[in-house]
Amino acid sequence: MPDTEGTSEAKQYYTSVPQKSQNYFLKGSNSLDWGMKNRLGRIFNPISGRTVMLAIDHGYFQGPTTGLERLDVNILPLAPFADTLMLTRGVLRSIIPPETQKSIVLRVSGGTSILKELSNESIAVDIEDAIRLNVSAMAVQVFIGGEHERESIINMTKAVDMGTRYGIPTLAVTAVGKDMVRDAKYFRLATRICAELGAQYVKTYYVPEDFETVTASCPVPIVIAGGKKIPELDALAMAYHAVQQGAAGVDMGRNIFQAESPIAMIKAVRAVVHDNESPEMAFELYNSLRIKKS
Ligand code: 5RP
Repeated sequence: MPDTEGTSEAKQYYTSVPQKSQNYFLKGSNSLDWGMKNRLGRIFNPISGRTVMLAIDHGYFQGPTTGLERLDVNILPLAPFADTLMLTRGVLRSIIPPETQKSIVLRVSGGTSILKELSNESIAVDIEDAIRLNVSAMAVQVFIGGEHERESIINMTKAVDMGTRYGIPTLAVTAVGKDMVRDAKYFRLATRICAELGAQYVKTYYVPEDFETVTASCPVPIVIAGGKKIPELDALAMAYHAVQQGAAGVDMGRNIFQAESPIAMIKAVRAVVHDNESPEMAFELYNSLRIKKS
């Protein structure tokens, strides 16, 4: 039965309770549209303000990377412990069950292999396909100082424009050429350019010196890549220092899926990122979970 006139006395308008207006929890993101915020809120945990993204997109330029030879065998068991999966549409469609509740960050740049100049990328996914796949963000490689710097920046700004049209955030991934110096000065430059040109968040590498100046000078959230495999305690220490110095989480691949016990490692990384656990305590957790498994 529809409401009829004259029943207003049964309604409750809470006229003395002002409607709350809330600031969005992520740095620099308060002016974004609702859909964009909703998607970012599926990547970043609104309680800790951070994320553990599992990066498994390496095959898009280097083929079957160690640990990613069989994503169905090696990666699916890890997925429940990640906040987000970062991958290609090929892997998403062929391997990831569509029932997954995980948010997806889709790699949308590509077009080169390790046999050629890596910075020579284009946008390799249509925005319609990103929408069809219900992704939470699109990831584009940006090669500041690289041979194809300009094209890679334009790839990113195109993704930002397309994503803004449909409420899909863009993650700018700062890629460093082999011969370039990885220091805070370089990453301040690279991350700031990406943020200024519209990326909703930026992925970079951790540097032991002055990393807090990188996060401070970037007006949007930063997540760190793990980089090449290093000992587990060192990887946990890197993640710890990064988040303590202002990173909003990790987008980690090899240091998780190439660990001796990947499930133990992703759980230990979560403890560091979401619970501010010290590297030593997280390493103890890693060892206890690893031992339990064997
Ligand atoms: C490839 C990428 C990877 O996602 C990124 O390097 C993260 O993985 P890892 O922690 O193994 O470095 O962007 O270009």
